[in-house]
Amino acid sequence: MKMAKVKSKIEYGDFQTPRELADAVVIFLRDAGISPSVIVEPTCGLGNFVLAATEGFPTVRQVFAYDIKADYVSALRKALRDANGVHCQVAQQDFFSFNWKEFFTAFRGEILVLGNPPWVTNAALGALGSDNLPKKTNFQNRAGFAAKTGKANFDISEWMLIKLLESLDGQRGCVAMLCKTATARRVLRHGWVNRFNIGRATIHLIDAAAYFGVSVDACLLIVHTGVPDLSPTAGVYSDLTFNHKVTTFGLLGRELVADVDEYNRLRDLDGLAYYTWRSGVKHDAASVMEFKKDGSTFINGVGERVELEPTYIYPLLKSSDIANGRLTPQRYVLVTQRTPGDDTKTISRTAPKTWYYLLRHADVLDRRQSIIYQKRPRFSVFGVGDYTFSPWKVAISGLYKNCRFEVVGKHQNKPVVLDDTCYLIPCSSEQEASFACLLLNSDLAKKFLHALVFYDAKRPVTIDVLNRIDLKRVAERLGLESDARKYFRDAALFEGRQGLLVFEEQGKYRTKSSSGRRVPRRR
Ligand SMILES: C[S@@+](CC[C@H](N)C(=O)[O-])C[C@H]1O[C@@H](n2cnc3c(N)ncnc32)[C@H](O)[C@@H]1O
Repeated sequence: MKMAKVKSKIEYGDFQTPRELADAVVIFLRDAGISPSVIVEPTCGLGNFVLAATEGFPTVRQVFAYDIKADYVSALRKALRDANGVHCQVAQQDFFSFNWKEFFTAFRGEILVLGNPPWVTNAALGALGSDNLPKKTNFQNRAGFAAKTGKANFDISEWMLIKLLESLDGQRGCVAMLCKTATARRVLRHGWVNRFNIGRATIHLIDAAAYFGVSVDACLLIVHTGVPDLSPTAGVYSDLTFNHKVTTFGLLGRELVADVDEYNRLRDLDGLAYYTWRSGVKHDAASVMEFKKDGSTFINGVGERVELEPTYIYPLLKSSDIANGRLTPQRYVLVTQRTPGDDTKTISRTAPKTWYYLLRHADVLDRRQSIIYQKRPRFSVFGVGDYTFSPWKVAISGLYKNCRFEVVGKHQNKPVVLDDTCYLIPCSSEQEASFACLLLNSDLAKKFLHALVFYDAKRPVTIDVLNRIDLKRVAERLGLESDARKYFRDAALFEGRQGLLVFEEQGKYRTKSSSGRRVPRRR
């Protein structure tokens, strides 16, 4: 494919739905009782959904199909010559400059919004210098740090789906569109949190590799509008039927849980974090900051052999190491600070060879794009604190789906540092780390994580999720409360949080009344 064509395909998220899949979706919707009089395909492309719908829905009277590309519009016009007597309007139209609310308000009958919006993220568009975007891109109030660190990255289909649901507000209709499953969840979360008038939402998984030649988790998202459903939950089905339910996810508070039923069985484990989970160290310059070792010589990412003082060098484990249980570090990392505010200039005195090395590679380090390095000492790293240098840690990879916690100890008498794709809690002793790890790897904790986490997400396990596991309750359920008492009392001392004051002295403040209810004991 020519370069310009490839760029256009990416820019417009152009993955045309094969007719076979469009037909299967239409038959499924029709058999599920959807009988629209108006069909809208907002980004119709070659129009296989339009063609399938004009044939498959006997009730349809009007079809509106739009696309930003003129050649698709003319191709569909030609293909629609014989449209079974249905009135079809096919026009070139940019989704983002169209007044969807005004458009939908003109209709009385049941509307079906059908299709497959573009599969492209705003970050990819940014890289291409494309403006195929809504005017205001930080649309979910993801301001500040989240926006700066890329959490504000989203599929433009997410924006489109939300816009459609918002515009249909209160009107009886159905949105049935193909998208990534992660997009579908974010759209539903947005609708539920913002109390859109939506109900009965389901997700039906499709094989994106087979139909589109891409390896992503994709689905048909179906949302009914104008029929509020008081329960913000959605069933996930393994195919285009209602026969095989995989799970039901839903909103709890402002966040989604992956399996509402399992979560409800284990909800008492959703409690207090005795430890604060942290990310590993971020430096954004692996070629300069990471090394292999040959005797006493360090070899950086571009093969340069250097002699450095040991002062700022630490053994390093990465996500792949943690996920695969490879706990003997083979790499090293230069950590220039112990806390984010440390003045790095002191390195010139304490470790001159290291300082000289940093100066020699300043071009790479000074070019680091992320805003987190701005206005901070030169050669700063990110994600450092006392926890980074704790002698023992429990760690998990944020990238892998196996959900395996590992105890990480010292290596060659130095604390092991984890990279920023790992999460960790700091521990003072091997026993404490082993105990916390035992609890975290228990079937109980795993079930709880499975209830919370969406394993098809890019980073399924997040700090927010980890911080919800109440290790004391896990210990209680496993009959290990006395060990928990022993080890966790000081857990938060690392953070200077006065031991969190969470381990009430058993028997001193509380006891069980004869009725079994917990009551305060007179002292
Ligand atoms: C994933 S393809 C799907 C096409 C069609 N819906 C289907 O199911 O085969 C996305 C389509 O969105 C169109 N598109 C991209 N950006 C658009 C925009 N801003 N406004 C309207 N259409 C757009 C592309 O040209 C492309 O045809």
